[in-house]
This record gives sequence, C-alpha cells and structure tokens, in this order.
Amino acid sequence: MPATIIVGAQWGDEGKGKIVDMLSDEIDIVARYQGGANAGHTVVIGDKEYVLHLIPSGIFHKHVACVIGNGVVIDPVALMDEIAMIKSFGIKIDGRLFISHNAHLIMPYHKMLDAIREKGAVKIGTTGRGIGPAYIDKYMRTGIRVVDLLNRKTLSDKLKANIEEKNQILSKIYGGVEIDVDKIIAEYQEFDKLIDPFITDTTLYLNNALKKKKRILAEGAQGALLDVDHGTYPFVTSSSPTSGGACTGLGIPPTAINRIIGIVKAYSTRVGNGPFPTELQDATGEKLRAIGGEYGATTGRPRRCGWLDMVSLEYSVMVNGISEIALTKLDVLDEFDEIAVCTGYTVDDKPLKSFSSNVATLDAVKPVYKKFKGWKENITGIRKYKKLPAATIKYIEAIEKLSGTRISLVSVGARRDQTIVR
Ligand code: GDP
Ligand code: IMO
Ligand code: MG
Repeated sequence: MPATIIVGAQWGDEGKGKIVDMLSDEIDIVARYQGGANAGHTVVIGDKEYVLHLIPSGIFHKHVACVIGNGVVIDPVALMDEIAMIKSFGIKIDGRLFISHNAHLIMPYHKMLDAIREKGAVKIGTTGRGIGPAYIDKYMRTGIRVVDLLNRKTLSDKLKANIEEKNQILSKIYGGVEIDVDKIIAEYQEFDKLIDPFITDTTLYLNNALKKKKRILAEGAQGALLDVDHGTYPFVTSSSPTSGGACTGLGIPPTAINRIIGIVKAYSTRVGNGPFPTELQDATGEKLRAIGGEYGATTGRPRRCGWLDMVSLEYSVMVNGISEIALTKLDVLDEFDEIAVCTGYTVDDKPLKSFSSNVATLDAVKPVYKKFKGWKENITGIRKYKKLPAATIKYIEAIEKLSGTRISLVSVGARRDQTIVR
C-alpha cells in the first residue's frame, strides 16, 4: 500500500493534528518526518484537548504505530513530558512508538543559542525550542544523534567537543553563560533509559511495512511557506515541511507516495515574523483570532490573521504536488457578513504573475481580493456536503477552482467527528 503525506499548505497551524488523527482510523503507521517541539498539533477527542509536539497525531488510535523519523530533531525534555502525558491518559505506547536511531537531539545549548540569536538584528520570531541551532549542528556534521546515547564514551566525547565550541561562542560572542558537561551527560543518560525500548532503525521498519502493504501516513509539521528552501526565507523554520521532506525525513522512496493531502485553513494565520500579504491588522483580523482561537499551541503567542491567499496556495500546491485539499476551520467564518479571498497580487499597480517567496517582493505586494457573501449560519453540526449552505458551497468550490485541486475533506469543528468527507 503506498504512503500518504499530510502537509501544511500555509504557515503552519492549519489543523494537521486534527486531520491526521481523523484519518488514522484507516492507517497502520503515522510517521513524523521533520521539525521538532516547535510544532503543536492539537487533537480534540470528545471534550478533551491534547497538544502533541513530537509524538505523531495517530497515537490516540490503539492500532496505529507511531514513528518519529530521522528528519526530526528531538528535545528529550519535551519528549519525556509528552510520553508522561500520553501515559497519564491511560494510552499504552510500548510496542507502538518507534524513534529513529538517526534522529538528532536538541541539547540545552541549542535552546540557549536560539534565544540569544533572536536578540540579533534579524528576529525570526522562533518558538525558542532550539530548532535552528540543532539543524545547524546536523548539517555541520557535529550533531548528537539518538544512536549516540547508546555509548557513554561516544556521547561524552561528542558532547565535550560540542560544549567546548558552544561555550566559546556563548561566552566570547554573546557574553552568555557557560555549560556544565557532566550535568548534561547525566540528564541525557536518564533520557536514554526512558527511550531505549523505542529506538529503532525506522527506515528499515517503514520500508518493511511498505513491502507488507501497510498503510503509512507521513505527518509534516509547520507548513510549506515556512520551508527552509521554498518558504519566505529567512523567516522560515530550519527544515523541509514540504512533501519532499517526507522522503528524506523518513528514508522512504518518492515512488512509495501516491497521495499528498494539503491541509488548508479557510483563512490565513502566521506566528512569528515575516511577510504576510493578506494580514488584517484591524477588527476583522481580531475577529478571526477570537473566533478561531488563534493562539499558538506551543508558545501561546497570538497568531497573525488574514484572509485566504490563493496566490501562495497555488504555489504550495505546485511545490508539494498536493493531490487533494482538506479545508479546515471553515466554521470560523460562520459569523462573517463578507469573506474575502486574495486572487492576485499587484506591485506598483502592476499584476505579479506568480508567487514569489522573496521577502522584499512579498512585503511590497498588494493583495487583490474577490469578495464572497457570508453564510451567517452555524455549520458545526453539518456532516453532509450537500447540507451546507449554498454560500458555503460557493466558497469551497471557488477555492477548488482557484487552486485547481479537489477539496476532499471539509472540517467544521475541532472534534474528530466534525468533518465532512466528500
Ligand atoms: P496544526 O499545528 O496544524 O496541527 O494545528 P494547531 O493544532 O496548531 O491549530 C489548529 C487549531 O484549530 C487547534 O486548536 C484545533 O483544535 C483547531 N481546529 C482544527 N480544525 C478545526 C476546525 O475545523 N474548526 C475549528 N473551529 N477548530 C479547528
Ligand atoms: P505546527 O507544526 C506555526 C514558526 C515560528 C517562527 C518560525 C521559525 O504546529 O504547524 P522555529 O522555532 O521553527 O525556528 O521558528 O517558524 N513556526 C511555526 N508556526 N506552526 C508551527 O508548527 C511552527 N513551528 C515553527 O513561529 O516564525
Ligand atoms: Mg500547530
């Protein structure tokens, strides 16, 4: 059975957690392929809300195996908290959680460096989870991986070399604090004891599962416009949330993928800095934030809100090869008299032919809007597409037409069951 990729099509927080959990009913393995505890994926079951940062959003289905792939950067503190949280709800993870031996570890100094760098000239508005500095070490080939926990001497040698360098950077360049090697070794060995049973060659595990025709769902974190290559650089995260990242981040071949579902929020949000052409810094933006509960699931920061941007969505569909869209949070628009969708950009009154991820260009663009009549009806209880108000259907089908992509799922509430499958 080929694999499906779930990718955030905007700037993250599109509702990936909800859709992954909902689709997990018919899935055998859910595998996270990049990012780290910068992600916050919310799953709502009944009246309980769970926020996952590292553990795949399929964990609430007993039959689903969950993989944290080699492309993920793991913060032991966050993972230990998350494992404890999952267990406290009576959910068994033994035999169901598989952590790649090649995944890199976030170290305390990565978080320090992340915080200090944000005091510099370019403020990305990171989540402060040490993501950028951890990926720097990965690509510098000095990173510490899960497999290094297995040997005390290797761990100690690698840590000492890293800490010596980081201490110099922190004290000489940033005038920051020095780091205690022995304390870190002790902490990471405690962590090793906890995750030891879960450490796996997940590449082999996933490829064997593919051979056995298991159904795999690759869960992306963040979103396409935060991709380090294809996003609004430098206001991006340090990994590849786009669909291509699923293959490198899990070690499965592109030929194994047959379905790429783009998660698209019915409007736009962005947390952190960087261009956002359709941002609404007015009462309408505040209304979207209030109704949509647009506050970061990881940091609690208010999310910047605006209308749906079809120019960037078209780009996202192209870069990811999105084969179908899950449109989320449509119910948030229930109370709006009028809903706008950005269908083009102009720069100096001239139309821009296509999306540009260049920050200067995006800062200069003016969105061109097409207006839609609001449906002014509560749609959260609707489960059949044809039962949706005519104005809602018009909005959905306009997005379909503008993106050239079928909308196969419509989400009308945070709960699992609040979904319309077309
Ligand atoms: P993710 O990072 O893409 O998984 O998204 P987040 O969990 O950060 O943010 C999505 C938020 O919207 C969460 O609070 C979800 O519970 C909620 N949510 C998801 N789908 C819907 C929906 O269709 N309607 C409403 N009202 N809320 C939703
Ligand atoms: P999920 O998976 C929304 C943003 C940060 C910042 C930029 C870089 O829940 O959709 P980082 O800490 O990654 O170095 O920060 O990326 N960011 C997210 N925004 N949702 C996320 O994850 C995000 N993860 C990182 O706000 O602008
Ligand atoms: Mg989130």
